[in-house]
Amino acid sequence: MAALIDADIRKARTLPAAFYRDAVLFERMRERVFARSWQLVDGAERAAARGSVLPFTLLEGCVDEPLLLTRDADGALRALSNVCTHRGNLVCTAAATLQGLRCGYHGRRFALDGRCLGMPEFNGVSGFPSPSDDLPRVQLGELQPLLFAALDPAFGFDDLVTPVRARMGSHLVPDPEGSRVYEIAANWALYCDNYLEGFHVPFVHGELAAEIEYGSYRTELLSWGTLQVAEASAGGDAFDGSRIAAWYFFLFPNTMLNFYPWGLSINVVVPLAVDRTRIVYRTWVADPSRRGKGAGGGLDRVELEDEAVVQQVQQGVRSRLYDRGRYSPSREAGVHHFHRLLTGMLD
Ligand code: FES
Ligand SMILES: [Fe+2]
Repeated sequence: MAALIDADIRKARTLPAAFYRDAVLFERMRERVFARSWQLVDGAERAAARGSVLPFTLLEGCVDEPLLLTRDADGALRALSNVCTHRGNLVCTAAATLQGLRCGYHGRRFALDGRCLGMPEFNGVSGFPSPSDDLPRVQLGELQPLLFAALDPAFGFDDLVTPVRARMGSHLVPDPEGSRVYEIAANWALYCDNYLEGFHVPFVHGELAAEIEYGSYRTELLSWGTLQVAEASAGGDAFDGSRIAAWYFFLFPNTMLNFYPWGLSINVVVPLAVDRTRIVYRTWVADPSRRGKGAGGGLDRVELEDEAVVQQVQQGVRSRLYDRGRYSPSREAGVHHFHRLLTGMLD
């Protein structure tokens, strides 16, 4: 499928409309793209203490893999399958601080590193316990203070996040008040397409357009994502010592890290169905006194403006008279790159 999108943006045509409306393709993307991607572990900061266990669902609503974050007595952090290797019960159903795990169905016990320690009524079972009775371990990636997990990643964590590392740090503090969940009647990739270009800003976001300098808006392509940089308009809020109003990182396939002088806004795009998408907002604050200012000021309003146009496009891609478009080389390089990465993973 990689051949669908020409490498030369001047020759390329955009994704066929079927990508946004075909349920079979949607299922293929769930397994080939999302089940093989790095996903944010929401609320991982709650597992800071030794002995913490924190059940979570990888990309809930899409990948839906039950996992368990554990921090052992030595402080080592791991992500394990939360499915008991006996008959499949969920091992842990609530966050706690424990010395070990015990399945609530028939009492199988595990260490916090996932090793099976034994269970009642299993005397005489040959070769028990063996490594196949341990809870499978999945990969973790740290991007302080954020944590990501992956079941079977198609690309390395560092290839995904290295360009973001300089922007992260312990100065970011989670703000539950800034959490939001939106649901829209549109395909997840339309939401990403829209995010990946600033082309629409003057048309769709009147107030945001006044905060940023459209002429200097730029997009850099990363191995597994993009970076968009917006400079502040005259008098607009910018990072100290610079003109930069926002750094917008897209981490393929569905994570957006938006840095503003006040802090970080994270959007996780969750494909629920071919034409239904959840967007989870998480907020980390660096400087509360700058909240509400600049390009990261009216995020709720900007979100609603984006949702309205993306839902309109979903109606458009159902048309019998539309299939594919073309890209603006100066303004849609990020969308083109995303389409290349996406089709490349479906071969
Ligand atoms: S399913 Fe866990 S002990 Fe039986
Ligand atoms: Fe937008």
